[in-house]
Amino acid sequence: MAPALLVLLGTVATLRADTLPDDFLLLPPVNFTIKVTSLAQVLLRWKPHPDQEQRGARLGYHLRIHAPQDDDYEIKYTVRKYEAVLHRGFSASVRTILWERRPSPASRWVSAELKAPPGSPGTSAVNLTCTTNTAANSHTESRPYRVSLHCGWRAGKEAPPDTQYFLYYRYGSWTEECREYSQDALERNVACWFPTTSIDGKGQGALAVRINGSSPSAAIRPYDRLFALHEIDRVNPPGNVTAEMEGTRLSIRWEKPISAFPDHCWDYEVRIYSARKDYVQLENTTATTFNTTVSDVSKYCVVVRAAVSFTCREPGAWSAWSQPIWTGKDEQKPWTEWLLVPLSAALCAALVCSLGRRTLSEVSMALTEAEKHSLWFTGPDTRTERGPKAPLPRCSVFRGQVCTKLFPPVPGPKSDIRDLMASVNYEKTGSGETESEVVSYVDEGPEALEDLVF
Ligand SMILES: *[C@@H]1O[C@H](CO)[C@@H](O)[C@H](O)[C@H]1NC(C)=O
Ligand SMILES: *[C@@H]1O[C@H](CO)[C@@H](O)[C@H](O)[C@H]1NC(C)=O
Ligand SMILES: *[C@@H]1O[C@H](CO)[C@@H](O)[C@H](O)[C@H]1NC(C)=O
Repeated sequence: MAPALLVLLGTVATLRADTLPDDFLLLPPVNFTIKVTSLAQVLLRWKPHPDQEQRGARLGYHLRIHAPQDDDYEIKYTVRKYEAVLHRGFSASVRTILWERRPSPASRWVSAELKAPPGSPGTSAVNLTCTTNTAANSHTESRPYRVSLHCGWRAGKEAPPDTQYFLYYRYGSWTEECREYSQDALERNVACWFPTTSIDGKGQGALAVRINGSSPSAAIRPYDRLFALHEIDRVNPPGNVTAEMEGTRLSIRWEKPISAFPDHCWDYEVRIYSARKDYVQLENTTATTFNTTVSDVSKYCVVVRAAVSFTCREPGAWSAWSQPIWTGKDEQKPWTEWLLVPLSAALCAALVCSLGRRTLSEVSMALTEAEKHSLWFTGPDTRTERGPKAPLPRCSVFRGQVCTKLFPPVPGPKSDIRDLMASVNYEKTGSGETESEVVSYVDEGPEALEDLVF
């Protein structure tokens, strides 16, 4: 009975809106105002026109923000909060519509505007970047984590030498001025550091930042920016990474990064670099341990990084890699490795000899078999991502052209090489022994070097 009644009511409502006479007049709202309520935040308000007839129709409003691209809303209320950068000024328009009819007829637009603040745009701070970072807060148990904020910028080209800049941030309803600035050569503030902020460690909203300034000789135009918190959060790397070898078993463990996000919110990436075979194995996991069986005796370098998983927040960047941990030991190559060279040579020779009779695709399939064999000999790590010095290029000794075509250089993602280089760069501060290993890796990959020049 009840659903039938609802349907009936709905029909009545629709009828009422649809059966409004053609002379039903929608009048524009009145007293439309835009008021700055706080940093990069405005309140838009209007009133229905006093002469607006209703005849039982429900009125709504179509609000269009020009910021500077249009942003449209259909709302029932006569007030709306809006976050926007205000240094270019701000304008919006609103008109009356019928709430129950889509598309609705509409009144004329009425508009309101905030003028851009004084000062030439060239005096504004430029190239503002900000990052947040979470640290443990040992002092209070109620807020076990504190979020720091660091921002940097440059003085505008037209800013006089005596300009001074000031930075403010707003998170929610809390606004705070910077108290720890660093200066450029002209003693103008160009960076700011908040050791603690009101930012929530699991925060997902926007962070508003304003840099305004003053100068005795010119008006300095403020500069606003809204940052999405997940995009500027510099996540800590995982802590206490340990790697242990027991026979051929490699066990890696680490701890969740220092962060307000709980254990289940993390994705990890583990990189295991085998010094002897010069390859990198890459693994993703959500656990804080990773165990693998390695094929042979070698020194292994292990690094781990973390990112907040999409189940807990919009995707952000990976953390830095953890400090590299070395485990395992260097030893003589096992005899199987020596066997591999003649074996793959024989396979290649056999294939090249039979090339004349086979189609290219057959050859390609056969070579894929050869590749499997070769991989089988070099180890059972099926998800291995080999470095530039993969075992297969040995084939090219026999028939360079064919083998190179069929096996284009192993297509490791470019960024991976750079990432490895980045992790490897840590090593330069480490022992001399590890540094020399690292350098030999770089020398092996001319393509990797090309990638670095970007
Ligand atoms: C609009 O503003 C004027 C002047 O501030 C005021 O007199 C008037 O009552 C307002 N109209 C409405 C509908 O609130
Ligand atoms: C600001 O950044 C742009 C591009 O990122 C760069 O071209 C420009 O030189 C930078 N300006 C200053 C003053 O550093
Ligand atoms: C800069 O902006 C803040 C916050 O909006 C304001 O309180 C302060 O007076 C402004 N300073 C200058 C020099 O404009």
